[in-house]
Amino acid sequence: MLRVADSSPADRRLSPVIRLPPAKLNLTLAVLGRRSDGYHDLHSVVVPLALADRLSVAPAHGPQDSLSVSGHDAGSLASNLVLRAFAAARTALRGAVNSVPLAARLDKQIPVGAGLGGGSSDAAAALDAALDVWGAEAALGTDELATLRGRVAIGLGSDVPFFLAGGAAVLSGRGDIVDPLPALRGGRPGVLLVTPDLGASTPLVFSTLDEDPSAAPSDPGSTRAASNHLAGEWRAGLQTHALLVRSGVLASANDLAGAADIVVPGLRTLRRGLVRCLGRPVGLSGSGPTLWVLYASESEAAAAAEAVRNGVGDGTIVAPGAGRPSIVATAIVAAGEARVPPSAEEEGS
Ligand code: C5P
Repeated sequence: MLRVADSSPADRRLSPVIRLPPAKLNLTLAVLGRRSDGYHDLHSVVVPLALADRLSVAPAHGPQDSLSVSGHDAGSLASNLVLRAFAAARTALRGAVNSVPLAARLDKQIPVGAGLGGGSSDAAAALDAALDVWGAEAALGTDELATLRGRVAIGLGSDVPFFLAGGAAVLSGRGDIVDPLPALRGGRPGVLLVTPDLGASTPLVFSTLDEDPSAAPSDPGSTRAASNHLAGEWRAGLQTHALLVRSGVLASANDLAGAADIVVPGLRTLRRGLVRCLGRPVGLSGSGPTLWVLYASESEAAAAAEAVRNGVGDGTIVAPGAGRPSIVATAIVAAGEARVPPSAEEEGS
């Protein structure tokens, strides 16, 4: 996770700790089966994106934690994972440090409920920042702190350990077993993200896969094979152009796609519209509803974003949801390369 404005322990309490929680993209997502704890075993190759939120954390003036949110609607404050992360970290520390109340400001650039992991990424960043503000490393030591971080992270959500680790990874178990991958060789691939203006409930997408036979992948086992294959190639040193060549296979390597099409009526139509407009394979990230398209560079993705905006404007691309879809050109990055969103930079805190 990128640490901006790192401060020495002495002045840590005076300046806010700032983190840039990145979005993620599932390049593959194989659902291997249902577990006895209600979750599903997965195999997924996941990458961080340059697109990021901005979180600033400092000791609060008041007696309790507070959070103010700007940008994309982040839902009710009570359910926000940032506050849950502070509370969980405080509980886990059991008084080992003076875990003073915290004031957080979150600028949401990542669409919410979108399959891009924004909430989980915010939670990982909040956990990391809180422990930093409280000086937990000095009190606990590196090993104990690492154990505590891992334990708190998995309690906050299946994706949180991935974000805490940072960087591309193969996820297994319920998504909490994180096997880091090396950086891609060659340039940074561009990514076009198109997110309809409505959320897809992750539990509902998983339960639809379990219960609705028409949600089942047409070729069971092929996603797992594609995911294993990509992971193996990546570990051996994958080049960006080789990843792009595999776009077609990857775009159909998400076992939740059929269920997402049922939960989000109109998603299939949007996907077809994007394929027609762009002439490229279109994939689904996580449980959706964000659709992705890979490019050789971010500027190519930006040109595609313009074409999609025009298509939405003239009605040749139709997206479900109350408003227009979010259309973002970004890039696959290595750990710590997420970018300060321009709006947050202007804020300058
Ligand atoms: O762990 P997290 O809170 O992000 O998961 C949200 C929901 O998604 C879970 O309650 C579960 O219904 C579903 N899920 C699952 N298997 C996973 C991850 C999530 O069934 N591996």
